[in-house]
Amino acid sequence: MGRFPDGFLWGGAISANQIEGAWDVDGKGVSVPDVCTAGSHKVDKRITPTLEPDTFYPSHEACDFYHRYREDIAMLAEMGFKALRLSIAWTRVFPTGEEAEPNELGLAFYDRVFDCCREHGIESIVTLSHYEMPYALASKYNGWAGRELIACFERFCACVFERYRGKVRYWLTLNEMNTGIGRGGAVLNLSTVRGYEGPINGLPDNPAERFQALHHMLVAAARVTALAHERYPEYRIGCMSSFALMYPYTCDPDDAVLVQQRMHVANWFCSDVQVRGYYPSYMRRHFAEKGIEVAMEPDDAETLARGTVDFVTFSYYMSVCLSAHPEKLETTGGNFAFGAKNPYLKTSDWGWQVDPVGLRWSLNAIWDRYQKPVMLVENGLGAYDTVEEDGSIHDPYRIEYLRQHIEQMAEAVADGVDLMGYTSWGPIDLVSASTGEFAKRYGFIYVDRHDDGTGTFERSRKDSFYWYQRVIETNGEDL
Ligand code: BG6
Repeated sequence: MGRFPDGFLWGGAISANQIEGAWDVDGKGVSVPDVCTAGSHKVDKRITPTLEPDTFYPSHEACDFYHRYREDIAMLAEMGFKALRLSIAWTRVFPTGEEAEPNELGLAFYDRVFDCCREHGIESIVTLSHYEMPYALASKYNGWAGRELIACFERFCACVFERYRGKVRYWLTLNEMNTGIGRGGAVLNLSTVRGYEGPINGLPDNPAERFQALHHMLVAAARVTALAHERYPEYRIGCMSSFALMYPYTCDPDDAVLVQQRMHVANWFCSDVQVRGYYPSYMRRHFAEKGIEVAMEPDDAETLARGTVDFVTFSYYMSVCLSAHPEKLETTGGNFAFGAKNPYLKTSDWGWQVDPVGLRWSLNAIWDRYQKPVMLVENGLGAYDTVEEDGSIHDPYRIEYLRQHIEQMAEAVADGVDLMGYTSWGPIDLVSASTGEFAKRYGFIYVDRHDDGTGTFERSRKDSFYWYQRVIETNGEDL
């Protein structure tokens, strides 16, 4: 064996609302991202319950994957992809979340996509819901804060599990569920914009409601995991968390304890429940100290215990430092974790600290804790790209970021981590979850689409395209 196991799932990850577009085509309903305006690094996205006539909504056309998926998947196959992580838009299947019958045109679209992947020998790894939900459910039940969402989600999942049998084997429940501890994250299942305890889109904040919403998500995820195990023994179900590594800023024991506590709640809580089947004991203290009471039904504990996952997946982009005395420190952060700047690390154009060695640490920590197969399903560098006059795009910064992270992945495999695969984020440029920008690009494939709504949607290959092709061809030997 080389540095990576045979059959390693090399590929990339995308999400429906960030790439598909066609937001009101073929019976699709309005989802929460469809009412989110564009923002930027400095300006928050806004949610507008009624669409404003002269406002740009990036998800409406996104990157037009809905109409271009064949071309896109063929290009991914040209890179040698073994796996594509993608999500199903809930609103294509159940436009308001509560229809008696699913929308056949929506279901048929994913038949075509999964079939196309199979024709190219690409395994589909499907996130059931990735930072979206029907807007109708958000407004009627206050999103996941309403217990009704559990039954709606279960019906949606039961429908797609049955429909795509034989086409999909790997399923992830809800994307980065743990970001739900931050404002807006759980109730509306949106990527948080300003992180833990921070403001998002002017939404009123209610920590008890957030954890109530998270509880409903955890119960819903457990119910569909158990359902898949009962009906479809060949299915493998994974949880998905955002792993933003935190370091103690100094060797002050108070810094270390702060990190332990913050990592418990932010990084471990959701996967602990999904892997072990019960609430971890540290949450009792967290709830007590924050005055949070989560309403649970009598059979929720049994549901959580029955619905444990088969493998663990996570995203990894960056790390931060935490200090018990942060007053005088320069701060930094990403979508989710915020803290003190690490003097040993550089940051991306969006201020995310780049920390490849932290990935090795994280992989080991996850494996040590759970002893379940692990998959890294998001990782990458959001950066500005320049198209040269001859159309070429040179992105050595992206290659360098990915090379360093894959090297550390190899170290983790050598450490003994059972790593199943790697799907880098956004192999095709797509809309940024946090800012709604197109300018923040992750792709090997450039999409001619811009923040002012212009562009032809044409695709072209960046230098990193050929680099990643070689990485896959050599199973990670030639970096
Ligand atoms: C993850 C999300 O948090 O980070 C993705 O699962 C998101 O949806 C990715 O796109 C990168 O974040 P951003 O804000 O740069 O798009």
